[in-house]
Amino acid sequence: HRHLTGIDGLQPHEIAFLLDEAETWVEANRTHATPDKRLAGLTQINAFFENSTRTLLSFEIAGKRLGADVVNMHAAQSSVKKGETLIDTAMTLNAMRADVIVIRHMSSGAVRLIADKVDCPVLNAGDGRHEHPTQALLDALTIRRRKGAIAGQRVVICGDLLHSRVARSNILALTALAAEVRVCAPSTLMPPMIERMGVTAFTDFDRALEGADVVMMLRLQNERMDGAYVPSTREYRLRYGLTLDRLAKAAPDALVMHPGPMNRGVEIDSAVADHARSAITEQVEMGVAVRMACLDVLTRRARGVEGWA
Ligand code: CP
Repeated sequence: HRHLTGIDGLQPHEIAFLLDEAETWVEANRTHATPDKRLAGLTQINAFFENSTRTLLSFEIAGKRLGADVVNMHAAQSSVKKGETLIDTAMTLNAMRADVIVIRHMSSGAVRLIADKVDCPVLNAGDGRHEHPTQALLDALTIRRRKGAIAGQRVVICGDLLHSRVARSNILALTALAAEVRVCAPSTLMPPMIERMGVTAFTDFDRALEGADVVMMLRLQNERMDGAYVPSTREYRLRYGLTLDRLAKAAPDALVMHPGPMNRGVEIDSAVADHARSAITEQVEMGVAVRMACLDVLTRRARGVEGWA
């Protein structure tokens, strides 16, 4: 693969390979001891057309830890605001001889469009409702480290599934790695025919939680509702909020996850988000290791190192 535009199209062994590669960076990243500057001399451009805290910063830290020259393009301060098209922006980044481009965009498919136009590897940092592959990889790595394995884990993903690229990438990765995936959402925020992705769908969160090993909560994505019925905050918390009482329905050692940003008191209570069973900060930490692995693996061919797959 020249690019990482999604989990879709990756074989289970390729996903496991990226997790293994990420695992090798966890300790070095924790101690900041990364003398291995294998991306030295390469230019990494992070082109973010949509807001981000975790993904942008962790891609920047990951690139810098590996010695790359990292530059960030924030759409709000760029010539996108003057009407430049996505393809013209992509051609401009290409002409600057970027060695790897990381893109976040509000439109599904925008990253693929750019990948087809440029000469270097492109990594998807989240495109519309489509995919957020590095998020799914960091979530899978967190589960694997905390639970010892992914196969056989009962994972409940609850929230605004209709608009969630995080849910889509996670469903693809976790089912590929043989987890039992349950999804839960109000019927208006449940994608039609989601069972075709190999998951079991619930609208009753209490039932979905029974015996869960991992509970992954998602926020309501108000910026993508396009007229969909949105329950009030109070109503949503009542039926779909993860409270301590609800968490008690899951397995006694169930892991709590959230990709962030969280809406505390809506989809997740603070008592749960800050609980000893919460892996939320560990997810962020794994994000740096996963992005180091992805940047390394995708630039191998350009560096004359054997690529992957
Ligand atoms: N999880 C995630 O993508 O967070 P950001 O939007 O802050 O990057």
